[in-house]
Amino acid sequence: MQKEIESGNMNAVIFDLDGVIVHTDEYHYRAWKKLADRLGVCFDERINNRLRGVSRLESLEIVLENSAFSDIPDAEKAALADEKNKTYQTLLQAMTPDDLSPEVLKTLRALKERGCRMAIGSSSRNAPLILEKIGLAGFFDAVSDGNNITNSKPDPEVFLKAAEYLGVSAKDCVVVEDADAGIEAARRAGMKTIAMGDAARGGQADWSIQSFGEILTIMENIKRVMPILTE
Ligand code: BG6
Ligand code: MG
Repeated sequence: MQKEIESGNMNAVIFDLDGVIVHTDEYHYRAWKKLADRLGVCFDERINNRLRGVSRLESLEIVLENSAFSDIPDAEKAALADEKNKTYQTLLQAMTPDDLSPEVLKTLRALKERGCRMAIGSSSRNAPLILEKIGLAGFFDAVSDGNNITNSKPDPEVFLKAAEYLGVSAKDCVVVEDADAGIEAARRAGMKTIAMGDAARGGQADWSIQSFGEILTIMENIKRVMPILTE
């Protein structure tokens, strides 16, 4: 019964991590750029935006497409993906809770105070390390990430798993994303979507926001409107 009342209020939020909770999307960019420069492969912001939400190996395929390295053996690709990940992890090691913006922290705490169920839905295998570095290990009710999925965004798997871990149905979840692939994944999962950053420019989401704090207003409006709609 309790669950039904909660789901009627659409009270679960699934957050992407990189580029939503924290600025690690910038570190992904820097690490790919370093690898691309070493190989002499063209890499810019436009290509980088296509990597948002997709797995490490799929990202490498995009970085190498149309280059002399596009057909190298799988073992060599794995070594290049590893090289990029090492650069990326060196950047992650220097992170502290100060890398979490006060606005994000304030909003997450306010959502929790209002009884909102919250999960991470990220394609990254580094998600646990990042959450620990920024002081959010244990904060979310559930974490679904690159370590528990077989298909990364735009496949809906990561979000469906997050809903399952939360114990709520997909239709009661709102997903916050900065990636077009993430918005598509959430829509395919049957969830509502809030876009920020690059995804906000795509115009495919239910809401687009400029700043993280706006999530609070959206969730409050949903609570006000949903009981009427579901009566
Ligand atoms: C996503 C990023 O969160 O994680 C992608 O948006 C990245 O750019 C993917 O490729 C996988 O990350 P990781 O940390 O496992 O290499
Ligand atoms: Mg992201």
